[in-house]
Amino acid sequence: MAPFVSLSLLLLFLNHPLLSLSTNPEGNALHALRSRLSDPNNMLQSWDPTLVNPCTWFHVTCDSNNHVIRLDLGNSNVSGTLGPELGQLQHLQYLELYRNEITGKIPKELGNLKSLISMDLYDNKLEGKIPKSFGKLKSLKFLRLNNNKLTGSIPRELTRLTDLKIFDVSNNDLCGTIPVEGNFESFPMESFKNNRFSGPELKGLVPYDFGC
Ligand SMILES: *[C@@H]1O[C@H](CO)[C@@H](O)[C@H](O)[C@H]1NC(C)=O
Repeated sequence: MAPFVSLSLLLLFLNHPLLSLSTNPEGNALHALRSRLSDPNNMLQSWDPTLVNPCTWFHVTCDSNNHVIRLDLGNSNVSGTLGPELGQLQHLQYLELYRNEITGKIPKELGNLKSLISMDLYDNKLEGKIPKSFGKLKSLKFLRLNNNKLTGSIPRELTRLTDLKIFDVSNNDLCGTIPVEGNFESFPMESFKNNRFSGPELKGLVPYDFGC
Protein backbone atom coordinates (compact mmCIF):
# COMPACT_ATOMS: atom_id res chain seq x y z
CA MET A 1 0.00 0.00 0.00
CA ALA A 2 2.62 2.50 1.09
CA PRO A 3 4.66 2.36 -2.17
CA PHE A 4 1.52 3.12 -4.19
CA VAL A 5 0.69 6.09 -2.04
CA SER A 6 4.15 7.57 -2.46
CA LEU A 7 4.14 6.88 -6.20
CA SER A 8 0.87 8.71 -6.69
CA LEU A 9 2.16 11.55 -4.52
CA LEU A 10 5.29 11.72 -6.67
CA LEU A 11 3.21 11.85 -9.86
CA LEU A 12 1.11 14.58 -8.32
CA PHE A 13 4.24 16.62 -7.60
CA LEU A 14 5.72 16.04 -11.05
CA ASN A 15 2.57 17.37 -12.65
CA HIS A 16 2.47 20.42 -10.43
CA PRO A 17 2.97 23.64 -12.47
CA LEU A 18 5.33 25.12 -9.86
CA LEU A 19 7.78 22.28 -10.40
CA SER A 20 8.65 23.32 -13.95
CA LEU A 21 10.06 26.51 -12.43
CA SER A 22 12.83 24.73 -10.61
CA THR A 23 15.12 25.00 -13.65
CA ASN A 24 14.83 28.79 -13.80
CA PRO A 25 15.99 30.55 -10.62
CA GLU A 26 15.11 33.99 -11.95
CA GLY A 27 11.54 32.92 -12.74
CA ASN A 28 11.41 31.44 -9.25
CA ALA A 29 12.56 34.67 -7.67
CA LEU A 30 10.01 36.75 -9.58
CA HIS A 31 7.21 34.34 -8.84
CA ALA A 32 8.10 34.51 -5.15
CA LEU A 33 7.85 38.30 -5.40
CA ARG A 34 4.43 37.99 -7.02
CA SER A 35 3.21 35.80 -4.18
CA ARG A 36 4.18 38.54 -1.70
CA LEU A 37 2.35 41.30 -3.54
CA SER A 38 -1.25 42.30 -3.71
CA ASP A 39 -1.98 43.37 -7.27
CA PRO A 40 -5.44 45.00 -7.63
CA ASN A 41 -4.67 46.32 -11.15
CA ASN A 42 -3.57 42.86 -12.44
CA MET A 43 -0.14 44.11 -13.50
CA LEU A 44 1.34 40.65 -12.85
CA GLN A 45 -1.31 38.63 -14.66
CA SER A 46 1.10 37.52 -17.42
CA TRP A 47 3.58 36.11 -14.87
CA ASP A 48 2.92 32.46 -15.76
CA PRO A 49 5.22 30.20 -13.73
CA THR A 50 4.77 27.27 -16.15
CA LEU A 51 6.78 29.02 -18.86
CA VAL A 52 10.43 28.01 -19.37
CA ASN A 53 11.68 31.47 -18.37
CA PRO A 54 10.12 34.80 -17.36
CA CYS A 55 11.29 36.65 -20.48
CA THR A 56 7.82 36.97 -22.03
CA TRP A 57 6.24 38.28 -18.83
CA PHE A 58 5.06 41.91 -18.92
CA HIS A 59 7.25 44.38 -16.98
CA VAL A 60 10.23 41.99 -17.17
CA THR A 61 13.10 42.49 -19.67
CA CYS A 62 15.76 39.89 -20.49
CA ASP A 63 19.07 40.08 -22.36
CA SER A 64 19.94 37.81 -25.32
CA ASN A 65 20.93 35.02 -22.89
CA ASN A 66 17.46 35.05 -21.28
CA HIS A 67 18.70 36.62 -18.08
CA VAL A 68 16.44 39.19 -16.40
CA ILE A 69 18.00 42.65 -16.63
CA ARG A 70 15.00 44.90 -15.86
CA LEU A 71 12.02 44.81 -13.55
CA ASP A 72 9.67 47.71 -14.31
CA LEU A 73 6.81 47.93 -11.83
CA GLY A 74 6.83 51.65 -11.10
CA ASN A 75 3.38 53.21 -10.63
CA SER A 76 1.69 49.81 -10.55
CA ASN A 77 -0.46 50.12 -7.43
CA VAL A 78 1.06 47.00 -5.88
CA SER A 79 1.26 46.53 -2.10
CA GLY A 80 2.99 43.99 0.11
CA THR A 81 6.62 43.35 0.93
CA LEU A 82 9.93 42.57 -0.81
CA GLY A 83 11.74 39.33 0.00
CA PRO A 84 15.28 37.94 -0.05
CA GLU A 85 14.60 36.09 -3.34
CA LEU A 86 15.07 39.33 -5.28
CA GLY A 87 18.78 38.97 -4.53
CA GLN A 88 18.81 35.97 -6.91
CA LEU A 89 18.28 38.16 -9.98
CA GLN A 90 22.05 38.04 -10.60
CA HIS A 91 21.95 39.99 -13.87
CA LEU A 92 19.44 42.67 -12.90
CA GLN A 93 20.44 46.20 -13.96
CA TYR A 94 17.23 48.13 -13.29
CA LEU A 95 14.99 47.59 -10.27
CA GLU A 96 12.08 50.00 -10.74
CA LEU A 97 9.45 49.70 -8.00
CA TYR A 98 8.73 53.40 -7.38
CA ARG A 99 5.26 54.85 -6.59
CA ASN A 100 3.59 51.83 -5.08
CA GLU A 101 2.36 50.84 -1.61
CA ILE A 102 5.26 48.56 -0.69
CA THR A 103 5.75 48.11 3.06
CA GLY A 104 8.28 46.36 5.31
CA LYS A 105 12.05 46.37 5.20
CA ILE A 106 14.46 46.57 2.27
CA PRO A 107 15.99 43.04 2.04
CA LYS A 108 19.75 43.09 2.63
CA GLU A 109 20.03 40.53 -0.19
CA LEU A 110 19.49 43.36 -2.71
CA GLY A 111 23.17 44.04 -2.03
CA ASN A 112 23.93 40.87 -4.04
CA LEU A 113 22.67 42.45 -7.29
CA LYS A 114 26.17 43.17 -8.53
CA SER A 115 25.07 44.29 -12.04
CA LEU A 116 22.57 46.82 -10.72
CA ILE A 117 22.74 50.28 -12.31
CA SER A 118 19.52 51.77 -10.94
CA MET A 119 17.42 51.09 -7.85
CA ASP A 120 14.26 53.17 -7.61
CA LEU A 121 12.19 52.42 -4.51
CA TYR A 122 10.95 55.99 -3.95
CA ASP A 123 7.35 56.81 -2.99
CA ASN A 124 6.51 53.66 -1.07
CA LYS A 125 6.06 52.87 2.63
CA LEU A 126 9.35 51.11 3.29
CA GLU A 127 10.69 51.10 6.85
CA GLY A 128 13.80 49.92 8.70
CA LYS A 129 17.36 50.70 7.74
CA ILE A 130 19.20 51.21 4.47
CA PRO A 131 21.17 47.91 4.21
CA LYS A 132 24.96 48.18 4.64
CA SER A 133 25.18 45.54 1.90
CA PHE A 134 24.40 48.29 -0.66
CA GLY A 135 28.10 49.12 -0.35
CA LYS A 136 28.67 46.07 -2.61
CA LEU A 137 26.64 47.51 -5.53
CA LYS A 138 29.72 48.63 -7.47
CA SER A 139 27.84 49.40 -10.73
CA LEU A 140 25.12 51.47 -9.08
CA LYS A 141 24.57 54.91 -10.60
CA PHE A 142 21.07 55.82 -9.36
CA LEU A 143 19.74 55.14 -5.86
CA ARG A 144 16.42 56.77 -5.05
CA LEU A 145 14.86 55.84 -1.70
CA ASN A 146 13.07 59.14 -1.06
CA ASN A 147 9.52 59.38 0.30
CA ASN A 148 9.48 56.31 2.50
CA LYS A 149 9.68 55.75 6.27
CA LEU A 150 13.32 54.65 6.53
CA THR A 151 15.14 55.04 9.86
CA GLY A 152 18.73 54.77 11.10
CA SER A 153 21.79 56.44 9.64
CA ILE A 154 23.25 56.39 6.11
CA PRO A 155 25.64 53.40 6.02
CA ARG A 156 29.21 54.66 5.45
CA GLU A 157 29.68 51.71 3.09
CA LEU A 158 27.76 53.79 0.49
CA THR A 159 30.65 56.25 0.23
CA ARG A 160 32.58 53.48 -1.60
CA LEU A 161 30.19 53.58 -4.58
CA THR A 162 32.34 55.49 -7.03
CA ASP A 163 29.81 55.33 -9.92
CA LEU A 164 26.91 56.73 -7.88
CA LYS A 165 25.57 59.85 -9.62
CA ILE A 166 22.12 60.33 -8.11
CA PHE A 167 21.35 59.62 -4.46
CA ASP A 168 18.06 60.70 -2.90
CA VAL A 169 16.87 59.85 0.60
CA SER A 170 14.73 62.96 1.16
CA ASN A 171 11.46 62.64 3.11
CA ASN A 172 12.31 59.72 5.37
CA ASP A 173 13.06 59.47 9.09
CA LEU A 174 16.86 59.09 8.89
CA CYS A 175 19.23 60.30 11.59
CA GLY A 176 22.96 60.73 12.23
CA THR A 177 25.28 62.85 10.13
CA ILE A 178 25.38 63.26 6.34
CA PRO A 179 28.52 61.72 4.79
CA VAL A 180 30.98 64.05 3.09
CA GLU A 181 33.30 61.41 1.65
CA GLY A 182 33.46 59.99 -1.90
CA ASN A 183 30.66 61.07 -4.24
CA PHE A 184 28.63 62.36 -1.29
CA GLU A 185 30.59 65.57 -1.62
CA SER A 186 28.67 66.30 -4.84
CA PHE A 187 25.09 65.38 -3.86
CA PRO A 188 22.81 68.40 -3.31
CA MET A 189 21.29 69.10 0.12
CA GLU A 190 17.87 68.55 -1.49
CA SER A 191 18.66 64.82 -1.53
CA PHE A 192 18.74 64.78 2.28
CA LYS A 193 15.91 67.16 3.21
CA ASN A 194 13.07 66.27 5.58
CA ASN A 195 14.87 63.77 7.80
CA ARG A 196 16.28 64.05 11.31
CA PHE A 197 19.96 64.48 10.37
CA SER A 198 22.24 66.23 12.86
CA GLY A 199 24.10 68.02 10.08
CA PRO A 200 27.10 67.24 7.85
CA GLU A 201 29.77 64.90 9.13
CA LEU A 202 32.66 66.54 10.97
CA LYS A 203 35.33 63.92 10.59
CA GLY A 204 36.64 62.68 13.91
CA LEU A 205 34.60 65.20 15.88
CA VAL A 206 31.08 63.79 15.65
CA PRO A 207 30.24 60.08 15.17
CA TYR A 208 28.21 59.26 12.03
CA ASP A 209 25.29 58.00 14.13
CA PHE A 210 25.21 61.13 16.30
CA GLY A 211 21.58 61.84 17.18
CA CYS A 212 20.30 58.38 16.26
C1 LIG B 1 -5.25 50.88 -6.49
O1 LIG B 1 -5.80 49.78 -5.82
C2 LIG B 1 -6.91 50.07 -4.98
C3 LIG B 1 -7.32 48.78 -4.29
O2 LIG B 1 -6.28 48.33 -3.46
C4 LIG B 1 -8.04 50.66 -5.80
O3 LIG B 1 -9.11 51.01 -4.94
C5 LIG B 1 -7.54 51.89 -6.55
O4 LIG B 1 -8.56 52.37 -7.41
C6 LIG B 1 -6.30 51.57 -7.36
N1 LIG B 1 -5.76 52.80 -7.94
C7 LIG B 1 -5.51 52.94 -9.22
C8 LIG B 1 -4.95 54.26 -9.62
O5 LIG B 1 -5.71 52.07 -10.03
